[in-house]
Amino acid sequence: MFPGVVALDGVNISLEKGKALALLGENGAGKSTLMKILSGSYTPDEGEIYFFGDKVEIKDVVHAKDLGISIIYQELSLSPNMTVAENIFALQEPIRYGMIDDNAMNKKARKLLAELDLDISPTKVVNELSISNQQMVEIVKALSTNPKIIIMDEPTSALSSKETEKLYEIINKLKSQGTSIIYISHRMEEIFTITDYVSVLRDGKYIGTVETSKTTTDELIKMMVGREMDKVYPIKDFKFIKDEKLLELKDYNKKGYYHGINLFVRPGEILGLYGLMGSGRTEIVQGIFGMLKKDKGDMFLHGKKVNVKNAFSAIEHKIAFVTEDRKHEGLVLSASVYENVTFANIGKVLNKFKLIDHQKEVQITKEHKDNLKIKTPNVYQTVNKLSGGNQQKIVLSKWFEIEPEILILDEPTRGIDVGAKFEIYKLMIELARKGVGIILISSELPEILNVSDRLLVVNDKKIVSELDPKNTTQEEIMSYITKRGE
Ligand SMILES: Nc1ncnc2c1ncn2[C@@H]1O[C@H](COP(=O)(O)OP(=O)(O)OP(=O)(O)O)[C@@H](O)[C@H]1O
Ligand SMILES: [Mg+2]
Repeated sequence: MFPGVVALDGVNISLEKGKALALLGENGAGKSTLMKILSGSYTPDEGEIYFFGDKVEIKDVVHAKDLGISIIYQELSLSPNMTVAENIFALQEPIRYGMIDDNAMNKKARKLLAELDLDISPTKVVNELSISNQQMVEIVKALSTNPKIIIMDEPTSALSSKETEKLYEIINKLKSQGTSIIYISHRMEEIFTITDYVSVLRDGKYIGTVETSKTTTDELIKMMVGREMDKVYPIKDFKFIKDEKLLELKDYNKKGYYHGINLFVRPGEILGLYGLMGSGRTEIVQGIFGMLKKDKGDMFLHGKKVNVKNAFSAIEHKIAFVTEDRKHEGLVLSASVYENVTFANIGKVLNKFKLIDHQKEVQITKEHKDNLKIKTPNVYQTVNKLSGGNQQKIVLSKWFEIEPEILILDEPTRGIDVGAKFEIYKLMIELARKGVGIILISSELPEILNVSDRLLVVNDKKIVSELDPKNTTQEEIMSYITKRGE
């Protein structure tokens, strides 16, 4: 399919009316490629597609749409400078007197948005929306053609838990109307909640299909990675936490964003921040990073008071922040893997004449490629040719290369397969062993309970509790995050 890479080989999947099929596989397994064939972006080299029993050759995107196949792409595909309504109806705008009828279009868009209970204005320009709202617009756009098959390629990677619930409702409604769904996700919980069958791909090859209600996470992992994974979380030796405060916040405050925050991180410690989306957990770390500057309170690094004015000064203080919005920040898609990995800390790869030492760039990048099992033919490949999950691994490598003293990770394992998650945890632990203090935000309770040394619960823009992850339960945590208005 792609020169030098066989993206797909002998894949057989079938889809029933009104059912949801999950497509599961490691990063780079070929899921998105297969879906791009079905939706007309790529043509297969060999093989046949049958649609309602008839053989079809899907010529292009428009043809796929006419057949009733619609796709929500993994990477956002909206035009950022056009309005919500213009995006939803791109190439199918209502026409009046030979011109696009804006009023009719906005009205139709408003109706569609309202049906899904979304509070988004159709006349708003897309780049003014939050990433999660952009994702919802993407979903509305895919639904607007009343498709028979709708492909969702990691639709929840930018959604909050509340919006994910909404998506589940939409999917159930679609299924009951006879629409079929192909659902791609790395989150097992979602697969077990909404799909009927699971097909697994490994290295572009078809492994098999099982009924969701008759399988287990362990069986699916085994199909995916080709071996048993007895450990999903690495074991951490706690002895390397030093008893001193690397970073400390005292009564840190920004009105409307975070209130009276007291916290500290020690060298070698992984501090978990857990809370619902919108609880203020991201705002707190944006405060630390100088993106949402405090209006009151103090920050100390190594016991010394510092004033982090903006992200630039945060980096100067050796604080690194891997944001949850990796789709937009963090990568130069047209540049190569090695350039992306080394470019944020170019000083490290300069030789004594202050020239770039190319060998070193390549060597550093190769280490990351091996550690995180980044699937790329070589380090010279441009990043836009890699699968979504592999792109995320490159963002992480880049920030690890900055050699921070404090590393803030906001949802670092989203869109990453189980095997690679394990590698990321190992890397975090390796950094902690070297004395880095890590702040981890995650929506996945099992992850935060297993990986962090100490856990702070965030609710209503405040830290409401400190818990020992080894001695708490999901129930106890939930009781703190759902309390309102204290
Ligand atoms: N435009 C392209 N040119 C060359 N190779 C490509 C291109 N797009 C994808 N590939 C390669 O095809 C393989 C499959 O990629 P694909 O995007 O289908 O993976 P995926 O299963 O969707 O992974 P993920 O879970 O990370 O999204 C990868 O090795 C990838 O690098
Ligand atoms: Mg993909």
